[in-house]
Amino acid sequence: MENASVNVTVVGLQWGDEGKGKVVDALSSGCQFVVRFCGGANAGHTVRVGEEKYALHLIPSGILRPGVVNVIANGVAFDPIVALEEIEGLAARGVAVGPENLRISAAAQVVMPWHGLEDRLSEQRLGKGKIGTTARGIGPCYADKARRTTAVRVGELLEADALAAKVHAIAEIKNCTFAALYGAEAMDAEAIIEEFTDIGRQIAPMVANTGAMLRRAVAERVPILFEGGQGSMLDIDHGTYPFVTSSPVAACGVPVGAGVPPSAVGRVVGLVKAYTSRVGAGPFPSEQDNQIGDRLRDRGNEYGTTTGRPRRCGWLDAFAVRYAADLSGAHEIALALLDVLSGFEELRVCTGYRLGGQAVADFDPSQMGDVECVYETLPGWAEDLTAARRFGDLPAEAQQYVAAVEDLLGRPVGFIGVGPDREALIAHHTVLRGVGK
Ligand code: IMP
Repeated sequence: MENASVNVTVVGLQWGDEGKGKVVDALSSGCQFVVRFCGGANAGHTVRVGEEKYALHLIPSGILRPGVVNVIANGVAFDPIVALEEIEGLAARGVAVGPENLRISAAAQVVMPWHGLEDRLSEQRLGKGKIGTTARGIGPCYADKARRTTAVRVGELLEADALAAKVHAIAEIKNCTFAALYGAEAMDAEAIIEEFTDIGRQIAPMVANTGAMLRRAVAERVPILFEGGQGSMLDIDHGTYPFVTSSPVAACGVPVGAGVPPSAVGRVVGLVKAYTSRVGAGPFPSEQDNQIGDRLRDRGNEYGTTTGRPRRCGWLDAFAVRYAADLSGAHEIALALLDVLSGFEELRVCTGYRLGGQAVADFDPSQMGDVECVYETLPGWAEDLTAARRFGDLPAEAQQYVAAVEDLLGRPVGFIGVGPDREALIAHHTVLRGVGK
């Protein structure tokens, strides 16, 4: 696949939690901008630097690299309360955050207090039929974005008088709706106005026309890294709808969510965990709701970064990942958490589906609840992989597993993650320079 751009896009090809923070951190060393273009504080990106572990939700993972400008672009559901907490937490650990290393799009949507409230009330009411959201208000915020008249954008937080009038008007609608639907108590509009006017003052120096900034960078061929949130199977259009998040999270979402031309997407690195996990409800054909799943959860520490919920675990579903890799046009794969598979006598990989006894030809996320997996079995290995730094350090069976993944996904494995540390990343068949070396 031809790739004339100097940019890199990193997207998850499963249901999120593929270890994007670590790969973005590694790849950001050669980039001037790191840009979040989708999702919001529902994401949880973990980066380890030495003994220090940083769990980031909204601030792009390039924040730990000096000289990188991090951008929260127009496509993000921006929760300023979470962002300011994160900024404070980073400052307390010696990472200064300000206009020189963080820019927030004036056109990004603001997650307002009524969004989190509606998310929780709606899920409670749905009971067993719930989506299993992160309760961060993401769905209601994007719903208001589409409705337009009840949305607040970041730029509006800077205009105190207009903001007060708008919050009054929206709070009235929300209070009536929530009282009627859920019997909820009214929110105090004055308190919200006070809080969000103050937030506006705090973030003002960082608010910018990030689209113009990024288009200029594209024209000048300044390297940009686009950091995906969640994973492709949670994409609003192409995932396992309705058990998805509310924004376009595949690489197709980059131009819309960042305000850049499609040609700026650049080299696409598809993040794939060596097995699969999912949080929340919805289909998961290769799920192992048994001792295998328990073992993957324990070894991989599969508990939500954002919610602490135990994640559902299962074998790698290469049929689903191939679909996601094709959708995003992934040029290469970063295979994460291979070390978690140590100690299994044999490993299984889902290579296709059967539906009503027939082999499924074209992957269709809407059929996922009804299919049966077809598995290939591969030999496991006993060795601990966390000290491996070159492909040759891996046991033969682990090398065979990586080769099988390349074969099934039809693209090279560029990187292999073998542990949480920054250094535990093997550069394999990547064309990207200076990373993991
Ligand atoms: P929401 O994005 O909070 O509305 O949640 C919708 C679905 O996406 C739920 O199943 C969540 O568990 C899932 N989800 C949202 N963000 C992430 C993430 O960053 N990692 C994994 N799952 C996520």
